[in-house]
Amino acid sequence: MASWKKIGAAFAFTSVVSATSVVSATTALQVCAQIQRALSPASGVFIPLASSASPAGAATNSIYAADNAHWFASSTQASACTVEPATAADVSALIKLLGQTKTPFAVKGGGHATNPGYSSTTGVQIAMTRFNAVTYDKKSGTIVLGAGKIWDDVYTELEPLGVFVPGGRVPGIGVAGYTLGGGYNWISNQIGLTVDIVLEYELVKPNGDIVCVTKTSNPDLFFALKGGYNNFGIVTQFTYQAFPIGKVWGGLITYGIAQTAEFNAAFSAFSAHATDPKAALVSGYGLDPNGQPAVGNIMFYNGPTPPKGLFDAFLNIKNTSSDIGTRTLSSLVASAPQDLPAGTRGFFNTMSFFEYTPAIVNAVQNETAFWGPRVTAVEAGALAGYHMEAFESTFLSHNTTPTAWPFYRSKKFVPLQMQFTWSNPKNDDIIRGFMEQSAIHLTNVANQDGQQVQELPLYPNYGLFTSPPARIYGSNIPRLQAIKAQVDPQNVMGLAGGWRF
Ligand SMILES: Cc1cc2nc3c(=O)[nH]c(=O)nc-3n(C[C@H](O)[C@H](O)[C@H](O)COP(=O)(O)OP(=O)(O)OC[C@H]3O[C@@H](n4cnc5c(N)ncnc54)[C@H](O)[C@@H]3O)c2cc1C
Ligand SMILES: *[C@@H]1O[C@H](CO)[C@@H](O)[C@H](O)[C@H]1NC(C)=O
Ligand SMILES: *[C@@H]1O[C@H](CO)[C@@H](O)[C@H](O)[C@H]1NC(C)=O
Repeated sequence: MASWKKIGAAFAFTSVVSATSVVSATTALQVCAQIQRALSPASGVFIPLASSASPAGAATNSIYAADNAHWFASSTQASACTVEPATAADVSALIKLLGQTKTPFAVKGGGHATNPGYSSTTGVQIAMTRFNAVTYDKKSGTIVLGAGKIWDDVYTELEPLGVFVPGGRVPGIGVAGYTLGGGYNWISNQIGLTVDIVLEYELVKPNGDIVCVTKTSNPDLFFALKGGYNNFGIVTQFTYQAFPIGKVWGGLITYGIAQTAEFNAAFSAFSAHATDPKAALVSGYGLDPNGQPAVGNIMFYNGPTPPKGLFDAFLNIKNTSSDIGTRTLSSLVASAPQDLPAGTRGFFNTMSFFEYTPAIVNAVQNETAFWGPRVTAVEAGALAGYHMEAFESTFLSHNTTPTAWPFYRSKKFVPLQMQFTWSNPKNDDIIRGFMEQSAIHLTNVANQDGQQVQELPLYPNYGLFTSPPARIYGSNIPRLQAIKAQVDPQNVMGLAGGWRF
């Protein structure tokens, strides 16, 4: 442990401040009343009532709770009120009022942000649920998605048409936050990140202007919105290139800990040598609720059957559960449910590697074995999970315009997603410290493995809030700062939490 601390000091992380201004609860409530008067009847404002004894009060309180709710309880806060805008004009009125009154606020799509305060607030919680368009235009080959959609619903709704927008790979993820951060999808090997296929953003700027942002109408904002998160205003809808989708193959398979060595070898071989761009893999280590280490894979093939042999290294390992087959995309996505017990707190942290070499894979697995018992010692039932993603060598070369994220595309790099969970708020800082130490240790392992991973971008949608913004936006920061100064000179979006440059 002593040598650990030494390593830790060399890579000390700096903290990032989220919301920049605070108003009293009374002031926020007054602003809620102002919002109520300013918005059209299509939109809704929900102020929690002290008692939910009356049916109307109970209904209000339940919408208020749903608007505030997040996948991780640690990402949920009690807001002064929630607002469900229904039109871009109402979002415009709303953002102007929030800016003028300097009221802290948050914008929520699917509520899967794993950093506290990134889409939650004690001020005004905006929930985008009423932006629920899913519109396929066959002639132009494009699909418009409202900023309140959840990916699994998008897949189900589009399935009869034989098209889709490549998005989240497991249930529950919001279209908006996912797309604003980058977007690793099941066919990234074929089409790149989801930001690479966005053609148009309908954006409500911090000054209230409603604009259509395309490659030609506004190249700067088009670049900035592609990975630049919630720094430039509120997006109401996204237009994407549509892709055909038919029956796919794959699903979830799990193995016992005794199969770990075999599994590690299969994963690093697949990651380094897979050349079929229709194939994809997300693999993970976790502990089951009994503290038993477990290993698993979600396998994917963009077609009804993978070529013979492609996934054999995984299919030949003795499994403990398997739900693999030819199926619809929505069924494959549903095969890996992400339901958490109520009150589950958690953070993600991330690393990027050039390649999942055997040394890296073994080190990642060792982190699970190392931290699993340590988080359990802090709190019974706490879990330390690690997920690795395999992509082929050219998957970052599909963009036709520059993107805010990633700032580096000259060589393949692959993400690691760390996911620790617990339930007692008093353990937040301790477990966050473990996650930071783990990333530092893996950075050292990568360096010893000949991978200078400190140069690589960290994925904003997996990053822990203590990560330095320079690790996320790197060489793009000067351009992003210049665009930010033009679009949001009053830093209205700074009243919300999120990555800042
Ligand atoms: C279980 C799970 C699985 C995941 N799987 C994947 C995956 O397969 N691939 C992948 O790439 N990522 C994945 N992620 C990461 C995911 O992309 C991020 O959590 C993402 O931010 C979630 O988007 P959201 O809309 O649900 O989140 P939210 O919490 O609603 O929003 C995230 C951020 O976006 C901002 N935002 C939301 N809506 C708007 C808007 N309309 N305008 C401006 N800003 C807005 C919010 O303010 C917040 O800062 C996963 C996360 C989880 C928890
Ligand atoms: C998983 O194991 C069961 C039982 O041994 C076996 O019948 C099944 O085919 C395996 N699944 C896969 C996808 O190989
Ligand atoms: C396993 O991880 C721990 C903690 O990061 C580290 O101290 C140890 O050296 C690792 N062991 C191996 C074999 O990698």
